[in-house]
Amino acid sequence: PAEDHAYVAEIKRLLKAENAVLVAHYYTDDAIQQLAEDTGGCVADSLEMARFGARHEATTLVVAGVRFMGETAKILSPEKRVLMPTLEATCSLDIGCPADEFSAFCDAHPDRTVVVYANTSAAVKARADWVVTSSIAVDVIEHLQARGEKILWAPDKHLGGYIQNKTGADMLMWDGACIVHEEFKAQGVEDLKRLYPDAAVLVHPESPASVVALADVAGSTSQLIKAAKELPNDKLVVATDRGIFFKMQQAVPDKTLYEAPTAGNGATCKSCAHCPWMAMNALDNLASALRQGSGEIAVDEALRLKALKPLERMLNFNA
Ligand code: 13P
Ligand code: SF4
Repeated sequence: PAEDHAYVAEIKRLLKAENAVLVAHYYTDDAIQQLAEDTGGCVADSLEMARFGARHEATTLVVAGVRFMGETAKILSPEKRVLMPTLEATCSLDIGCPADEFSAFCDAHPDRTVVVYANTSAAVKARADWVVTSSIAVDVIEHLQARGEKILWAPDKHLGGYIQNKTGADMLMWDGACIVHEEFKAQGVEDLKRLYPDAAVLVHPESPASVVALADVAGSTSQLIKAAKELPNDKLVVATDRGIFFKMQQAVPDKTLYEAPTAGNGATCKSCAHCPWMAMNALDNLASALRQGSGEIAVDEALRLKALKPLERMLNFNA
């Protein structure tokens, strides 16, 4: 639509004028992902977003994604201005893990190394020894387990269960879940496999164990796109947010992609997986953020310094 063209032109102009770069997650709208790519920004998984933002020389980072991604950017680059299209875009994992309750949980288990998923608030990260994203979680826990450490894990019980299954680590878990991935059902994936027996199954490990058990490859969004390219299969069943199809289909133009069906949380579509918070990012609020400097992320300095340590451990970790 003409309106979108006007926003795209305005955003391109403002990115230059503000010495800003756009960092977008794979679950945001196609138009936002395209803009990030066209303007020298990045479209990535959450670990790559963090790395890209920290390294980039722009003085303003515009983070299209959910709140924890903007906070992570600010914690790593306090000297940069970090803007988001909306500060309302949260995550069910973040909501389900309030810092005070989490802190009490940690206090009750002082013998455990605290490892938290990146999908948490700055205050929860500040209480952690390590932060991990899904792309690096198994490697980090393997490393800690080899050192004989017992783990306290939060907040995603499905990702935690997946890691535990892979590593055999001693993990005490918080009871949190992603409302999007939790809706995938093994039955739906099995039905698609029956229809397309040659298809490979790609699953984000925030999905329930019964769904991950059917996966040919489980991994972060970037890892799933990489797997789509590397697998010999012409058909792929994909269990993650449908936003990923934009870049995945470009990566494998000759393959057929099937959305794993969900029971649907009804927030954005009836039977598809789409995060309602990622969906809050749009061209109009992205343009406003740049125009008005709205949606700016602020993190208290004392908290930032505490949250920085476990984040830096993640970024410096080499498997
Ligand atoms: P990735 O790190 O795989 O991009 O995951 C982030 C996320 O929020 C998945 O729901
Ligand atoms: Fe959080 Fe799930 Fe949305 Fe990712 S898809 S941001 S884990 S609610």
